[in-house]
Amino acid sequence: MSTSLTRTETLSLLSLSAACIGIIANTFQGDGEPLIASLAFSGLAFSLSFGMIRWLGDVFMKAGLKGKDMSKLRSVEIPECMGAVCAIVYLLVLIIFIPFPFYKDIVAATSGGGNRDRVFEPELVELVETGRLLHKFPHNKLASYLSAILSLQSIVLLGVGDDLFDIRWRHKVLIPAFASIPMLIVYFVDFGVTSIVIPTPLRPYFGSLFDLGSLYYLYMAALAIFAPNSINILAGINGIEVSQSLCIAFLILLNDLLYLLPFSSPPHPATDSHLFSLYLLLPFIGVSLALLYHNTYPARVFVGDTYCYFAGMVFAVDGILGHFSKTLWLLLMPQVFNFVYSAPQLFHLVPCPRHRLPRFNARTGLLEPSVAEFKKPLARPIQMGMKLLHSLYLLRIKEDEKGNVIESTNFTIINLWLVWFGPMREDKLCISLTVFQACCGLVGLFIRHRLALWVFTQDNK
Ligand code: UD1
Ligand code: MG
Repeated sequence: MSTSLTRTETLSLLSLSAACIGIIANTFQGDGEPLIASLAFSGLAFSLSFGMIRWLGDVFMKAGLKGKDMSKLRSVEIPECMGAVCAIVYLLVLIIFIPFPFYKDIVAATSGGGNRDRVFEPELVELVETGRLLHKFPHNKLASYLSAILSLQSIVLLGVGDDLFDIRWRHKVLIPAFASIPMLIVYFVDFGVTSIVIPTPLRPYFGSLFDLGSLYYLYMAALAIFAPNSINILAGINGIEVSQSLCIAFLILLNDLLYLLPFSSPPHPATDSHLFSLYLLLPFIGVSLALLYHNTYPARVFVGDTYCYFAGMVFAVDGILGHFSKTLWLLLMPQVFNFVYSAPQLFHLVPCPRHRLPRFNARTGLLEPSVAEFKKPLARPIQMGMKLLHSLYLLRIKEDEKGNVIESTNFTIINLWLVWFGPMREDKLCISLTVFQACCGLVGLFIRHRLALWVFTQDNK
């Protein structure tokens, strides 16, 4: 891969960055419009990660962070773990962005701003010095934001560790749980709602609210474990990790906008949490677009586990601290299906090869479902289950003359897609799966905001 930017690329990135810096500088003149600043920061994040992915490719390869693209005719090695570059740019941007959403509050809680005309009054100066105006500052919001950064940082550490050392599955599963502790504590102290709304038909039995108590925290930790791992197992073809994440990010964005638009007064009570969600999401979209450009077919870099974990955790943190974790599940439907479908292999009921990505057929240049072969006959009930799935078109198996299952396609939605629609070129496979993800998400949002009225008395939008 060429490691330098072309002239046009350099010029475009420089002008984009200049425009973004101009916009950011401008926001200081008004109230520090945080949403506009966040958009501009996302533009900067895009340019920075675009350039760094290109410049650092060789450095990563030299350090041994490289992988072989298994679905190409010529065996090529390309840089792996490029998601780490994006994650670090993203975290830096989140950190630099901290003053912006709080600009108004900082001005109000310290000297200047709202108190400009009175700032020299002696008693006010004293109040400021003794910090008594600090109660006006929304410490809870800042804590939320900081805990998000902390949780994301921990998950990036896990991702890089996994890319370097191939951590075992049982450890991988636990680390996101630890990473979610800062955010869960803040949720506990700041929001603390652990009740769920009961659908209208069940209300005579359970009342209108049902308090899950500490189970609710387990549920949120489960989301934080699920989201990163689910993206990592829906992977293995060029572009799919980033395109599914971008698709989910845009769907969350759409959901946020439903609450924010039109900018009506009085604003919707959930405005603040959906703004918070946007501040976390926009820079993520920026860095992901830069990565997609390099990872799309034919890939010039791999994203690595770092990106998969990081992307999943961005969604989990966003959903939990933005108070829309149940909607998030609806947007993750293909990932949930892929996980449930993968379960027999993940829990070793059926042997699981190291790689389950589709098989490249060098003669046709197309991808075909990859298979797991069984040297020893599997237990009877498992064989029966597999035959049932086969008859439902949810798996393709091969039997020997005695009726023993000797081979089956691997249990991933990517392979299932190829079973259904036949061999496909890698880019077409990635695009069709992303379109499927988008359709599922849109149906999910429709259910959330329209059909919800049938089972709940009101849509909280
Ligand atoms: C997960 C999947 C595994 C899948 C792998 C591919 C489970 C339990 N694990 O493992 O089945 O094969 O992701 O990402 O479902 N690669 C390509 N083309 C791509 C992307 C990756 O050939 O577009 C190959 C490269 O050799 C790359 C490697 O996959 O180096 C990365 O695999 P890794 O992320 O380490 O696999 P896991 O996350 O452990
Ligand atoms: Mg992976």
